[in-house]
Amino acid sequence: MKSGGEEAIPEWRALFAAAAPHLEVRWIGEEGLPRERVRYALVWAPEPGALARFPHLRLILSTGAGVEHIVGDPDWPRHVPLVRMGGAEAAQRMGEFVCLAALALLRDLPRVIAGQQARHWETFETARTARETRVGIMGLGNLGRAAAGMLGALGFPLAGWSRRSKAAEGVECFAGPDQLEAFLARTDILVNLLPDTPQTRGLIEAAVLARLPEDAGVVNAGRGPQLVLADLLAALDAGRVGGAVLDVFDPEPLPPEHPLWSHPRVIITPHIASLPSRPARARYAADAIAAFERGERVANVYEAERGY
Ligand code: NDP
Ligand code: OXD
Repeated sequence: MKSGGEEAIPEWRALFAAAAPHLEVRWIGEEGLPRERVRYALVWAPEPGALARFPHLRLILSTGAGVEHIVGDPDWPRHVPLVRMGGAEAAQRMGEFVCLAALALLRDLPRVIAGQQARHWETFETARTARETRVGIMGLGNLGRAAAGMLGALGFPLAGWSRRSKAAEGVECFAGPDQLEAFLARTDILVNLLPDTPQTRGLIEAAVLARLPEDAGVVNAGRGPQLVLADLLAALDAGRVGGAVLDVFDPEPLPPEHPLWSHPRVIITPHIASLPSRPARARYAADAIAAFERGERVANVYEAERGY
């Protein structure tokens, strides 16, 4: 889906003609494709076994930042470096989405939209401003750092939680399982931007939600399996969690009968938080290939032992 399938090949071809004119762009499923000549694969969710059919691949480039659709293939060629999508445009788009979500929770946008749908004029005040609302970001990578910068400009006091400890200006940094509780205790709006790994799957469950302050908001733009929806629903219905903005689900699409679709304090978006434009993705892939061909270190390569 994210690569656009066969129909998008003319567009990718035109983009690579500008960004890397020495490369010939072909559709992965093309009949008669000379597989032994293929050096680079740009993919989102290739059929299981598809990448293993190319014996001389040098790089796999994911059109998304998450690579679970590739590493979930038992036959993906593990000896070939796998480059995750990154770049400034992806980060800008995610920052915009996270600001939208945090402000929607802060200003109770679901209540405003419900009023409009009912043609009901109801003025109300919200309890706090951004300056009094602490946001905590799980994942301080390319996307989390950009979101922090943009939320900080709106006045939100910020914290971040990552695997290894780090320093980021204007962000109180927490790291690892030992510091998770302290991070949650100071977080009025929890924003999940973690990659899908065995450690992060199922991480945001009842006990984690219970450690947030009363009436906290939850934003999930990482991956669906990281947030246990039944636990979120229970916390929303018990009034422990005040509202949620959810962009990713397991499975996707969220089934039409799921109760969250009509929950009065939930906003659902269809996995649209950050999809960089094709020109931006082609430039990112062309730059990675160019670095590889110059013999330089390629940025943002998947590492199996850490899972992202
Ligand atoms: P990065 O690899 O740049 O950053 C990942 C961050 O997560 C790092 O800070 C890393 O810690 C942290 N992390 C990873 N595992 C753990 C763990 N077990 N405990 C604590 N922290 C952890 O990724 P990106 O920022 O580019 O992307 C993040 C994710 O966002 C993607 O993998 C994807 O799932 C999701 N995404 C969603 C989109 C959407 O539209 N909804 C669009 C694009 C991406 P450390 O800094 O120590 O390495
Ligand atoms: C991605 C995504 O991983 O869009 O890039 O979710």
